[in-house]
Amino acid sequence: MASSDIATRHAELASLVRAHDHAYYVLAAPTLTDREYDLLYRELVELEKEHPHLATPDSPTHRVGGAPISEFKPVTHGAPMMSLENTYSQQEVREFVARVQKLLPNEELEWTVEPKIDGVAVCLRYNSGVLKVGATRGDGATGDDITSNLKTIRSIPLKIMSADSSDVPDWFEVRGEVFLSRTGFRSLNEERLSAGEEPFANPRNAAAGSLKLLDPRIVATRPLAAVFYGLGAIAGATLPPTQIRLLEWLRALGFKTPERVWRCSTVSELIDAIASLDAARGGFDYETDGAVIKLNSLPLRERAGSTAKAPRWAIAYKYDSEQAQTTLRRITLQVGRTGAVTPVAELDPVLLSGSTVSRATLHNEDELRRKDIRVGDTVIVEKAGEVIPAVVRVVPEKRTGTEVVFEFPRACPACGTELTREGSPGEPAGIIRCRNQDCPAQVRGRIEHWCARGAMDIEGGGEVLVSQLVGKGHVLDVADLYSLTMESLSQLERMGEKSAQNFLDGLTTSKSRDVWRLLFGLGILHVGVGAAKSLARRFGRVDTIMAASPEELMTAEAVGEVIAASVYSWFALPRNQRVVERLRVAGLNFGTDRTEPARGVFFGKTFVLTGTLPNLSRDQASSRIESLGGKVASSVSKKTDFVIAGADAGSKLEKAGRLGVRVIDESQFLRLCEQHPSP
Ligand code: IVH
Repeated sequence: MASSDIATRHAELASLVRAHDHAYYVLAAPTLTDREYDLLYRELVELEKEHPHLATPDSPTHRVGGAPISEFKPVTHGAPMMSLENTYSQQEVREFVARVQKLLPNEELEWTVEPKIDGVAVCLRYNSGVLKVGATRGDGATGDDITSNLKTIRSIPLKIMSADSSDVPDWFEVRGEVFLSRTGFRSLNEERLSAGEEPFANPRNAAAGSLKLLDPRIVATRPLAAVFYGLGAIAGATLPPTQIRLLEWLRALGFKTPERVWRCSTVSELIDAIASLDAARGGFDYETDGAVIKLNSLPLRERAGSTAKAPRWAIAYKYDSEQAQTTLRRITLQVGRTGAVTPVAELDPVLLSGSTVSRATLHNEDELRRKDIRVGDTVIVEKAGEVIPAVVRVVPEKRTGTEVVFEFPRACPACGTELTREGSPGEPAGIIRCRNQDCPAQVRGRIEHWCARGAMDIEGGGEVLVSQLVGKGHVLDVADLYSLTMESLSQLERMGEKSAQNFLDGLTTSKSRDVWRLLFGLGILHVGVGAAKSLARRFGRVDTIMAASPEELMTAEAVGEVIAASVYSWFALPRNQRVVERLRVAGLNFGTDRTEPARGVFFGKTFVLTGTLPNLSRDQASSRIESLGGKVASSVSKKTDFVIAGADAGSKLEKAGRLGVRVIDESQFLRLCEQHPSP
């Protein structure tokens, strides 16, 4: 193909992929099948691999480009990001309207009502139609640069789509909210629970936590989306005259805008719109905590102005969340299989959102202190993100003086070992752990996890049986399960021969389960189903994973520093190695050679070695390249990405020069190796 044809084909493919992303993620109305899309996407990737100059940062293949960063840089917003004043009653809405009318006498005011999305406020800056910077709100004047994380969100356009380029301002800021869908939140929390991690309290926390991750590869696995409702600074375009037109314009540029918007002229229309939104919001894919009332006309907003914190022309009406009042009778502690100790509130049963609640999570000791929750308190409970009931606050007016401050025990309630406070990366602060690996609560949890349907799926291996096996000392670790016999099982209470046989058969069947189930079943902290599947896909065999360095582990998709370090240190412990060895002897499936190529820093890159390197042998250099996902070729061609040249390099070096291939020395190569992997 001539180079102009290549560029044309590239532009065509990029715009097809972009259009599909928009149809799928913004409009929720896909135009291509998954397969059609995959084929186009792959052709685009291939083309960019052969012609790297085409792979510009706005290419749709560059959503997960960035390597992990060590901190977020500050970004100064072009115009301050304000907050909104809250109101809770119709009377306050009436007062707000009267106040604005007083500021704008003789004007006929028109209003809009939009959902108040319960997410994380962000500001995106586009330059010549290309996303350049994305930031959090921060203190309103300066936020954190989270561009590489925001780029992973597929409903955010990397490049503005507009048939008419004169519609696109030279430079503008767009404001909106990043959120985690309800379904996304549920599946993320299931994954976290299965990986022994603390679940997020609600979708907003989950979205905020995800955007704060330093590794965009992990962010890309979080089902985030974004809705936009406003503009910041703008240059080279006239502002739309109204909020309604502004939202239409944002949609035409490819942004997702609020699900529904009402236009109102009177207070009673506003009250009706607020009620209609309340009735409709349960059906939206995001959580809403209120309605935002805005003056429709942008020029009139200018005239109304702002206070230091909030505009005078807009206000938030907050809905009551589904809450109930009850008494907290006791606080108990739950010890999970990873030793995490969670305080749980035991409540007088109360009806909440259609179900009876008698227990609620108190998250951790810090939360307990912050909210000053005491035993005997009257408390408000709420379904956080409509899943886990949580104690929101106490009702101090109801205190009688008999309430007791809960002393967080220093020892594990299950084994008496002194508890420690966690400060490991990737974990919310304040997790208290029991570090005794032999703690019966942990042993029970680990065996139950191994037998669970999502892991080794062992029939009959439920809570009751596991509790007996551990209690009687028959089983201390998962490998002990495979030494159980009919005799040992029949000694257990209420264990008939048939159920014993069922369980033994279940154990036999489990020996041939997939490697990812075994990996997940081991219950390594941070390793959920997703990470286990990714590791199994990448390395194939348990032994390869055991022998891998953290850097090598990170070449598996969506395996970042935290997971890699956890896997590495788990396999480094002799007691764990012994369990794995006994599982091997018991005949469990340990896998076959890897099935997926590495996706390390050198993924898709071809190297040629020439001459003698000062420190590395040819074999050492080759294996470094391959372990980080690259290929080693014997001769230089246009497809070569790097030539590593040592002393006495010959014709290969000369050919590299002729073809314009990049030549590096050993120290430059070693520096490249130290970069973090990116897919
Ligand atoms: S307009 C200057 N519209 O609520 C006014 N904000 O409590 C800027 N929010 O910081 C905000 N949905 O993060 C606006 N439809 C919506 C919104 C919305 C959610 C957030 C926003 C703001 C916060 C104020």
